[in-house]
Amino acid sequence: MLAEELTETRARTLALASGLEDHTLEQVHSPLLSPLVWDLAHIACFEDMWISHAAGTRALRPELFTTYDAVETPRSRRGELDLLTASETFTHMAVVRSRTEALIADGAAEQTDLIELVICHEQQHNETMLQLLALAQLPDPFMVDGAAAREADAATAQGGLDLVAFAGGGVTIGAGPGQGFVYDNERPAHTRELAAFRLARTPATNADWLAFIDAGGYRRRELWSAEGWRWRMREAIERPLHWTADGRQWRLGELVAIEPDVAVVHISWFEAEAFANSHGLRLPTEFEWELAATADPTTGRRNPFPWGDEPVSRSRANVDQVSGGPVPAGSLPGASSAGLQSLIGDVWEWTASWFDGYPGFSAYPYREYSEPFFGERYRVLRGGSWATRPRVASATFRNWDLPQRRQIFAGVRLAGDA
Ligand code: AVJ
Ligand code: FE
Repeated sequence: MLAEELTETRARTLALASGLEDHTLEQVHSPLLSPLVWDLAHIACFEDMWISHAAGTRALRPELFTTYDAVETPRSRRGELDLLTASETFTHMAVVRSRTEALIADGAAEQTDLIELVICHEQQHNETMLQLLALAQLPDPFMVDGAAAREADAATAQGGLDLVAFAGGGVTIGAGPGQGFVYDNERPAHTRELAAFRLARTPATNADWLAFIDAGGYRRRELWSAEGWRWRMREAIERPLHWTADGRQWRLGELVAIEPDVAVVHISWFEAEAFANSHGLRLPTEFEWELAATADPTTGRRNPFPWGDEPVSRSRANVDQVSGGPVPAGSLPGASSAGLQSLIGDVWEWTASWFDGYPGFSAYPYREYSEPFFGERYRVLRGGSWATRPRVASATFRNWDLPQRRQIFAGVRLAGDA
């Protein structure tokens, strides 16, 4: 099973890089993201480190670990380094993978959670790779016409201003035992007291965002926090990233019309906050989001996923990269029993919460996965996007980024007090 998942994941990684010239793979397209060859070699080094650890053997090329370590070599510095060439990178990936397969076949890599970590890690980088393709306006590597899905169900379209009420109370947050592999920052499960709140049925749409722009949302200082306004002025922000002044939008390498009925994407936390303020509303906390994604008001139970027990798949949620972008809410049968749509997939949803450790947090399997990012610097995003692989999208998964970042596939779902 795990061997098959490793193979499937690698096929995706290679598909994302296929069709690109070596110089495109090696080029720094943006200081916000690594050259693609860095991601690729980083994936291989991470696997080399953790599979050898699981098997109690020596890594194949430990001398590469510093260059390809995310903390020791931050994104902004990855272009200055002497990196492996594209062809050396692909060779290293293949050599590490052969050894991984041999160790698994021999039963040497017994710590299967570390194999799962390696799979999840590569899948997480599948999304970062797609962010880079979008920033560099490179072609959609899958060439699946997402427009068809988007148009077919435009009749179900609705704005993101319709709010559903939730009762608060003592709520279990985080991943408990027996849920398979989860990241350290999702544990331990613990109880939070939540006040009653309201949460929007769908993420805010492009139509909602156009109305915000038309109503002077980017000019009305009073809607913005001091820090958000400084960022908006310094960067001369007037519209979401990838939108053009003539009212169109880049979708990977294609310049397309802005579709009113799909979720707005590529907005910063600062913009999300100003948008919420313009409606007299706010961003949800990550705990409100998690309750809404798992609550079944008809039975009073909590489910693993908005729709129940079935795992995340393309048939329920807009995930796995092939749709090319957000689709209208309601196109897929993945609503929660309270009627909320697109909780999993479509766009990441910014929350009001800072990224921090849950009470009783303990780092696993290494300190640098989550802990260096804790504190009042990064905001939590929930739910996954159209570019998230299904295995790594869940109701407890916590993503994080700086409030000014827009390269991620992030939008916003509004919340309010009861
Ligand atoms: C969870 C997306 C913030 O990219 O920094 C990849 C995932 N961690 N390699 C990141 C991750 C280590 C992480 N995010
Ligand atoms: Fe990584």
